[in-house]
Amino acid sequence: MDVIQVSAPAKIILFGEHSVVYGHPAIAIPVSDIRAYTELQIDNKIQHPTIYLKDYGKQFYYHDKVSPEEINHIIHAFDCVQSKTGIMIPQNGWQLKIWSEIPIARGMGSSAAVSVALLKVMLQFLKINLAQSEFIDLSYELEKFHHGRPSGIDNTVISLEKPIFFQKEKEIQYIEPAKFYFVIGDTGIGKKTSQVVNEVANRYTENSDMYGKIFKSIGDIAVHGLDVLQSGDTQRLGELMNENQSLLSEIGVSSPELDNLINVARKNGAIGAKLCGAGKGGCMVALVNSKQEGEFVSNKLIEGGAKRSFLTVLKSGK
Ligand code: PMV
Repeated sequence: MDVIQVSAPAKIILFGEHSVVYGHPAIAIPVSDIRAYTELQIDNKIQHPTIYLKDYGKQFYYHDKVSPEEINHIIHAFDCVQSKTGIMIPQNGWQLKIWSEIPIARGMGSSAAVSVALLKVMLQFLKINLAQSEFIDLSYELEKFHHGRPSGIDNTVISLEKPIFFQKEKEIQYIEPAKFYFVIGDTGIGKKTSQVVNEVANRYTENSDMYGKIFKSIGDIAVHGLDVLQSGDTQRLGELMNENQSLLSEIGVSSPELDNLINVARKNGAIGAKLCGAGKGGCMVALVNSKQEGEFVSNKLIEGGAKRSFLTVLKSGK
């Protein structure tokens, strides 16, 4: 029996969520120590391939005619792989296991990470080597299944597992950041990205002047953030995060729980803090000076109501 096990990281958006949907630039970074996994066992003796969702303790048969909702996205991923490559997934001889450490619907890219890990394992199984851009296009197809009209930033940063400066329809720019310490706090409140994105779209339609200006300002922060990330100016990076948070509040995507955790982080020494991802729940991210400060802020976030918190270090891949 052969086993292929692959994984994909979580991510956070440091600058530019929501405005990125409207074509403005944004910055996203991978969180490599929190991951989604897929494992394929290949064995000729397996007559009825199964899909095992370990986190839910549920197993499904691939051959079942009507696939239950829980595995719709997996069947869709298989369909996308087949139509992109023209190679059919074998009808027997394998079983698939999926699990993830990434909190679901908290702005950390859990759906994109599962999609990317799923694509990687199926492509390895079928012995297909896609060009990087083709892989990202395919992961975008899967992301559309979850979010309707995503900007593409989540699946791109997770596919590449590198910090990126991202703008729709433009070439991706890799960032070579200085070293920074971030603490992520989870409000414990799950929110559907598509719902928050749609609410913002409705408000944008009603108030296009104001929203247009705010989106442009957020994009400018991302442009500035790119320089600051590379130059290593922690103070300025924190200020930019705070400015981005004010603008996100103005477009109505913060929440009392996010505001609370952001205030707890700032009061306890964080240099800057903001929500990350779609908002209205999910996670926030705070910038700190060191690992020790990060551990301190992380504990304060838990005391202040966070369901969990993670410390992550951003540094250049070089
Ligand atoms: O899925 P989330 O919570 O990481 O949000 C993605 C960021 C948005 O800008 C809100 C949506 C998008 O497609 O870029």
